[in-house]
Amino acid sequence: MTKSNAATFTLTNDATGQAIKLPVMDGSMGPSVIDVRKLYAETGHFTFDPGFTSTGSCESGLTFIDGDEGILLHRGYSIEELAEHSDFLEVAHLLLYGELPNKEQKTKFDRDVTYHTMVHEQLINFYRGFRRDAHPMAVMCGVVGALSAFYHDSTDIHDERQRMIASFRLVAKMPTIAAMAYKYSVGQPFNYPRNDLSYAENFLHMMFAVPAEPYKISPTVARAMDRILILHADHEQNASTSTVRLSGSSGANPFACIAAGIASLWGPAHGGANEAVLNMLREIGHKDNINEFIKKAKDKDDPFRLMGFGHRVYKNYDPRAKVMQKSCHEVLAELDLDDPLLDLAMALEKIALEDEYFVERKLFPNVDFYSGIVLKALGLPTSMFTVLFAVARTVGWVAQWKEMIEEPGQKIGRPRQLYTGPQTRPFVPLDKR
Ligand code: SDX
Repeated sequence: MTKSNAATFTLTNDATGQAIKLPVMDGSMGPSVIDVRKLYAETGHFTFDPGFTSTGSCESGLTFIDGDEGILLHRGYSIEELAEHSDFLEVAHLLLYGELPNKEQKTKFDRDVTYHTMVHEQLINFYRGFRRDAHPMAVMCGVVGALSAFYHDSTDIHDERQRMIASFRLVAKMPTIAAMAYKYSVGQPFNYPRNDLSYAENFLHMMFAVPAEPYKISPTVARAMDRILILHADHEQNASTSTVRLSGSSGANPFACIAAGIASLWGPAHGGANEAVLNMLREIGHKDNINEFIKKAKDKDDPFRLMGFGHRVYKNYDPRAKVMQKSCHEVLAELDLDDPLLDLAMALEKIALEDEYFVERKLFPNVDFYSGIVLKALGLPTSMFTVLFAVARTVGWVAQWKEMIEEPGQKIGRPRQLYTGPQTRPFVPLDKR
């Protein structure tokens, strides 16, 4: 963290005339921050920012977003270049270690992750406790949270080696756990991971292979899956990442923290939006109905939102949505699929982007708008869309958690509040109420 030589922020209390100077700190890119850490001690006041629209919760070097310019960088590399030239484990190495791996490092990293993809055989018993129609995100919350019961030897967060092992285990085992959740829901046998397959190929194999016949992995589908994983890997201090950081700040083990992140991601305003987009498109059904739904989205009395549109940070466009749209067209063309939902999505996007309400509020398609259509084309059921998001985002969660734990002077997160409840009052005995 660098203190700015250029600026301080002066706060004057109009009632008392008391002035306090707060240092301004500059990062390497993006907005500077006002350091308010001494504000309460010196003024008895808190800052107030529910939803954290103007609050930096931490210092991080992992991901930079410029919402106005539609920029997303991971350790300085643009998401467009990473999606074009990297694979998911290469991006995982970049996020975890800070650099793209050379050939030797990549071979070792890929092997280290690959050799952690199997899960403890007894974990299978957890699945049997769920109803077959349980939402796979409910299964993910339960099974990932239970991992700390199986991997005690990597829960000491102050041991660097254990932190790394836990990181490998989480990144490696998420596709296995996710695919098992799907197989359980359709009553098919689980597939073990295969060490001869890439991360994306292994996930597809575990999801779709059946014992009755060989499963042929389409290179197009595998490449598209790998790209989707890259696009969802990390995204600064979003709701689920902040949940992981806050959970981890108390010293909770990484498996429990990632389970908390999965729970937060499930929300339809966050990672659950990709599933909600497809359900919304199915509900709209036909281009002729679009204007009725746009009207609902604008109606303040109607809780309906246009899923896949809007973003807390991107107020221009989500660079991931552009890559996803391109991938969407490539996959549908390669697989010779003609999905009317894509036509509907394109028509919805065009109409929404011309509507004053959306233009005025800068509500553009986000990463979830097209991902649902691509995932459907790749054969995933809608209920598995957010699960895939969780598989990809585990790399980001783990990297952010590791960065926080390794931060010198790391403290437990403990926000304050503006209290608006009853003032002090005497107890009233039961016979007098
Ligand atoms: C992800 O944070 C991240 O980085 C998240 C993510 C990641 O990678 O981790 O990028 C992944 O979560 C993407 C977002 C997926 N969610 C959706 O697609 C759900 C639909 N979008 C909305 O719920 C909403 O846009 C949010 C939650 C994404 C952002 O909400 P904000 O920033 O809190 O904005 P807001 O709710 O204050 O809305 C501002 C205005 C409001 O109108 P006014 O009160 O000003 O009149 O825009 C309106 C909102 O009503 N608005 C929408 C809308 N989104 C915002 N109106 C209709 N449809 C929408 N989708």
